[in-house]
Amino acid sequence: MSRDEKIAIIGSGLIGRSWAMLFASVGYKVCIYDILSEQIDSALKEILVQLKKLEESGLLRGKISAVEQHKLITGCTDFKECVAGAKHVQECVPESIELKRKVFEQLDAVADDKMVLCSSTSTMPASSFTEHLTHRAQCIVAHPTNPPFYCPLTELVPSPWTYPHVTKNTREILEEIGQSVVLLNKEKFGFALNRLQWGMMSEIWRLVQDGTISVEDVDKVMSDGLGMRYAFMGPLETAYLNADGWKSYSERYADTIFNVAQDFGPTPRMEGETLEIVHNDLASRIPLDKLNERRAWRDARLAGLAKLKKEMNEK
Ligand code: NAI
Repeated sequence: MSRDEKIAIIGSGLIGRSWAMLFASVGYKVCIYDILSEQIDSALKEILVQLKKLEESGLLRGKISAVEQHKLITGCTDFKECVAGAKHVQECVPESIELKRKVFEQLDAVADDKMVLCSSTSTMPASSFTEHLTHRAQCIVAHPTNPPFYCPLTELVPSPWTYPHVTKNTREILEEIGQSVVLLNKEKFGFALNRLQWGMMSEIWRLVQDGTISVEDVDKVMSDGLGMRYAFMGPLETAYLNADGWKSYSERYADTIFNVAQDFGPTPRMEGETLEIVHNDLASRIPLDKLNERRAWRDARLAGLAKLKKEMNEK
């Protein structure tokens, strides 16, 4: 089911590898570039291992086998050659504004007038690094959620000067590869996912800092409580169901929520004494040399949850 359309991936780390697998799953020819040639080699090897694992667990996307998908992915150490003829370029270099600016200038110099130039940045609006470019209207952000194969959400964030058809085409290609897309109508640092995540993280920090709850227990509030509650529907729909609609929820809880929110306190910095407490508590249970084992434990469970969601949502 290979097709004659090419996707270029710039940066072959964690996220570049995931995008390569997702695009290949529906038959795109994928070319990955990195400034480090050894990163490209290790990406190609690791992608095959990951694709086979997904196939074994029944979570491989698309209709072609793991080996066939892998054959669609090639590496290239020449930037211009990698990008030439691509319909979509997915930038996946580290999260630094200077680096994003530099790579988008490189892309601007070689892009044609049709290519979509898409960044995977987790926090930075495209307008903060594309304003001066000739092809700035072809630039957009598509921020995936890690690990993308198990967590399909992707935030699509056009800049004020992104062409509407670029937004539309990017949404279509993301949905085609099986991502669940949300559109941000305006640019904001941190987009939606990380703003929510860091708002929560700030309150977690305050609760640990003032001794209200232990590190282990606050994590359990999420893993056995809110995380389970929100695995199938979001907080707004959950609240809607927890009363008789939102108006009834507001009558019952709006005052209480307002009063508790007033008590949240200043934004903490994640450093100092509380950092020692959080880090040492986790390190006593998960030593730093055992992180890979724990990551594998997590990924197996995320895979199980992704499978369950897929099966239940198909019913
Ligand atoms: P990473 O550090 O795993 O990979 C970055 C890769 O880019 C490396 O292979 C590096 O050699 C390469 N690179 C560095 N400079 C380059 C250049 N000038 N040209 C080409 N390649 C270059 O980083 P990761 O985690 O894959 O992140 C990439 C982007 O994706 C970042 O913007 C990050 O914020 C975003 N992102 C990361 C997520 C995560 O959980 N890791 C989740 C969602 C988005």
